[in-house]
Amino acid sequence: MLKDNFKDEAKDWDKNSNTNTKSIGGAILEKIAMNSEMELLDFGAGTGLLGFEIARHVKKIYGVDTSHSMLEELRAKNTPQLSIEPLHQDIIASPLQRSFDGLISSMTLHHIEDIERFFSTIHTNIQDGGFIAIADLELEDGTFHSENNGVFHHGFDTAKLCEIAKSCGFKDIECSQVNTIKKPDKEYGVFLLTATK
Ligand SMILES: C[S@@+](CC[C@H](N)C(=O)[O-])C[C@H]1O[C@@H](n2cnc3c(N)ncnc32)[C@H](O)[C@@H]1O
Repeated sequence: MLKDNFKDEAKDWDKNSNTNTKSIGGAILEKIAMNSEMELLDFGAGTGLLGFEIARHVKKIYGVDTSHSMLEELRAKNTPQLSIEPLHQDIIASPLQRSFDGLISSMTLHHIEDIERFFSTIHTNIQDGGFIAIADLELEDGTFHSENNGVFHHGFDTAKLCEIAKSCGFKDIECSQVNTIKKPDKEYGVFLLTATK
């Protein structure tokens, strides 16, 4: 049984997170040439906000998430014209036995305790020449979340994160700020890390 830390947030998730994922999706599409043959993983897909930005540019997206409630919201948005296949699985603890053309991810990495294990696991799930495009918070002071349940990192030192990706076998690693999230007292930077295998 997977822990669902987003049970209370799932219904209203799209009201608050839409603008950030639009910026991230736009930045990913600017950096990575997608094509209609590609099959991608959206890691921590949630309600599919990022995945649906990318889905029409590729063949198929699998939305991986440990939250049943977030995936229920994603499922409800699927149409015959545009859909994401939900995968309710912890793919770090129980890795998938196949590889993909790429992995996209938005605002999920800070929920992953062991970052080295994440990068080395997904390295096995990406085909040679494939890509990763991972967006999350830059280092912050712990004020971003009002509730820190399931939050393992207060953002990331992007230089260190790039080193970890490199040590796990990724190359052509690039990282830059693609958005800022404004809250009443502060602004939080959002980075996009891209790399190839
Ligand atoms: C902050 S939400 C982001 C959702 C979506 N990517 C977005 O940007 O709107 C983080 C998501 O990561 C999921 N998550 C947390 N740990 C996970 C894990 N180990 N594997 C897959 N998904 C996970 C959560 O359930 C949640 O849906």
